[in-house]
This record gives sequence, structure tokens and C-alpha cells, in this order.
Amino acid sequence: MDAIDVIRAKRDGHALSNEQIDWVIDAYTRGAIAEEQMSSLAMAILLNGMSRAEIGRWTAAMIASGERMDFSSLSRPTTDKHSTGGVGDKITLPLAPVVAACGAAVPQLSGRGLGHTGGTLDKLESIPGWRASLSNAEMLDVLESTGAVICAAGSGLAPADRKLYALRDVTGTVESIPLIASSIMSKKIAEGTGALVLDVKVGSGAFMKTVEDARELAETMVAIGTDHGVRTVALLTAMDRPLGRAVGNAVEVAESVEVLAGGGPEDVVELTVRLAREMLDAAGITGKDPADALRDGSAMDVWRRMVAAQGGDPDAPLPQAAETHTITAPSSGVLTRLDAFAVGVAAWRLGAGRARKEDPVSAGAGVICHARPGDKVTEGQPLLTLHADDPARFDRALESLEGGYEIGTTAPDLLPLIIDRLS
Ligand code: URA
Repeated sequence: MDAIDVIRAKRDGHALSNEQIDWVIDAYTRGAIAEEQMSSLAMAILLNGMSRAEIGRWTAAMIASGERMDFSSLSRPTTDKHSTGGVGDKITLPLAPVVAACGAAVPQLSGRGLGHTGGTLDKLESIPGWRASLSNAEMLDVLESTGAVICAAGSGLAPADRKLYALRDVTGTVESIPLIASSIMSKKIAEGTGALVLDVKVGSGAFMKTVEDARELAETMVAIGTDHGVRTVALLTAMDRPLGRAVGNAVEVAESVEVLAGGGPEDVVELTVRLAREMLDAAGITGKDPADALRDGSAMDVWRRMVAAQGGDPDAPLPQAAETHTITAPSSGVLTRLDAFAVGVAAWRLGAGRARKEDPVSAGAGVICHARPGDKVTEGQPLLTLHADDPARFDRALESLEGGYEIGTTAPDLLPLIIDRLS
């Protein structure tokens, strides 16, 4: 087989055969296909799409490129959640302990932020001592002893996706439904979870800008999961404004701890509880209310044990950025818009995110939103506080917020937090 023939076939709008797909993924993983050839194929896929059959085979080949984890020794059913990425999306942090407190095992393999979307591992690494990298045996140990583990995927899990995702990130080929669906689902299926709830984000701060695109992505992923015997459900949720008030790393951990203590912003609590119900349902666990686990301290207890089991000190003060800059409301009225993308880019430029994979992130950098769309504001009141280690970062962050918020007179027409459910 020849890489150029495969590229030409997709370039000319043909479906790839099973043999072509299996060969391409295997050869690319082994280093037998050049990065520029894979980049060209990824662009052809982005432009010409793939049928459901092709996406299914592509996903299966990516799973087969590495190892599969096995949780059959656990005494509890496994259930997991995956978000397609957003701004202020710290839901995994309270969600995993809540679901574990209700009786499931939550093996949450998570990623790092790149660009304007945050990464769960970057957030948790702001907890002094906390370790993202665990061996498979350590992961199973934490899962068995606490009910939840949030860690980095080992290098043996879907290595084809690891290479391809890094390539897509620098070749403008991330925003492709077949490539996103197969990337996410190959990792989740290889991880070996029994049930999966997908949080497919919609809006300016998400990869999918429209409900139609998000629905297509969700349907594709649900079909792949179901075909592989994973009970899969998807929620389409709003990402036109940031989730909660905190956007960054340590600031999002602090907000998650507030939620685990029974407080926190309404939208973060609502989404955590809804996703927890879906995860428990998919795992066949009945008679437990996740809202109780937040009220009675049992989720907080799992959180503390989970953080400690991964080397973190749940009582240690979280890092804070040295410098702050507050933006005040230019007039009185109603905050009609707070754009998720603008706030995400601001947090990224303040140091919370990275421009290249190897860059370090600042634990304390980020944005605190004092008002949320729909809130009444008074001229001069704080609207956003920017946190950075270096004040030189404020100018570019302020640039990204220009036009990112609006004050008007009437309540805004916002996307509902939970737009739809697919199964
Ligand atoms: N998250 C992934 O894991 N892969 C993608 O392609 C996009 C988001």
C-alpha cells in the first residue's frame, strides 16, 4: 500500500477501504508514514469528511494501535465523562468525587489545555504535590481505594491519537467531526470504561460553534461508543459564556472545592449534578442522589482522599498570581454578553494556557468574572479581575477582551445550559 494513493483517494472524495484505514494508522504509528503525508490526509479528511463506516474503522484502528486497560478486577461499575473542551470547564474536578461517592468507579483520564481551552491536569497540578502521571497499577490502586482517579493517559493508550492530535494541532486540522469523534472515542474505549457520558460543548468557546455541528459530533460519538459495547450518552451544553466565575488553573480548583463544600456557582452545580445523574444511570446505579453527596460532605471526602492518594495536599494554600488588574463596568445596565472565547483567550494570554505543548503554565493566572450574563451591573463595579505573574501580560489579555462583553438594557437571549440529550 502507498500513502500517496490513500491521500489521493480522500482528496478526490472517495471513501477509504478498511484495508487502507488499518494500514495508514498502523504505518503512521510505526513512523512509516511521514508527518507531512499524514498532515495532508488529515486536511483531506477535514475537507471531504468520512462516512460513519469509515469513522468507525478509523476509531477501531486507533484503539488497536495501543493497549487497552482492564478494570474487570474492580468491585464497582466504571463510568466516565468526557467534555469536548471549554472555558471555565472545571466540571471533572467535583464530578468524579461526586459519582464515586454514589458508588461508581470513575477512571478519568484527562488532558492538558492547549489554546484557549483549559486542561484538567493543568488545573489539578496547581495543588502542591499532586501528580498527573501514574502507572497503570497506581491508577488501579487509587481507583480501588478512593473510587475516583484523575490522571494522564499512559503513552501506551491509543498512541496513534497521541501523534495525530499533536499534528492536527499545528496543521489547522482539529475542527473536523470525524477526526474529533475518533480521537475522543479511541481513548475512551481503550481506557475500558463500561459507561460514558459526553459533554459536547456548543458556542464561541467550544470547537463546535453551532448546535447542528455539535449534534452531529454527539451522534457520531454515541454511535461509535454503542458499537463498541460502551453505554454512551451525550449532552449538548452551552459554551457561549464561561462556565462558573473562575477561568484558569488554581482559581478553578478553588471554585471546584466550593462546589464540593456545597456552594459554588449555580451553573457549575447544575451541570455537575446532571452529568453525575447521567453517569450513574449509564452505570446502572440507582437510588443515589448526587446532590446529596455535595450536601452531606461525602463527595468532599472522596476529593480529599483522591488528591492525597496522588501526592497532593488538599489543605495546602493554592498558588496565587502576584499581580491583578480589574476591569470595571463602563455603564449601568444588564450584562448582555460575556464571550467565552474572549475570556478563554485572555486567561491563556495571562499565562493559564500554553502556546506550545512544551510550555509551562502559570498556576495562579486566570480571570475571575464578577458578573455573569443576565446580571444587573452598576457603572464602576468590578466586572472581571485578571490575574498574572507578570504585569506585562495584561495588555494582550485586555486586547482579547475588547468587544468580548456588552452592557445593555434587556435580559440576553442565552443558550440554555443543557441544550439537548442524545443516546
Ligand atoms: N479532544 C480530543 O481528545 N481530541 C480532539 O480531536 C478534540 C478534542
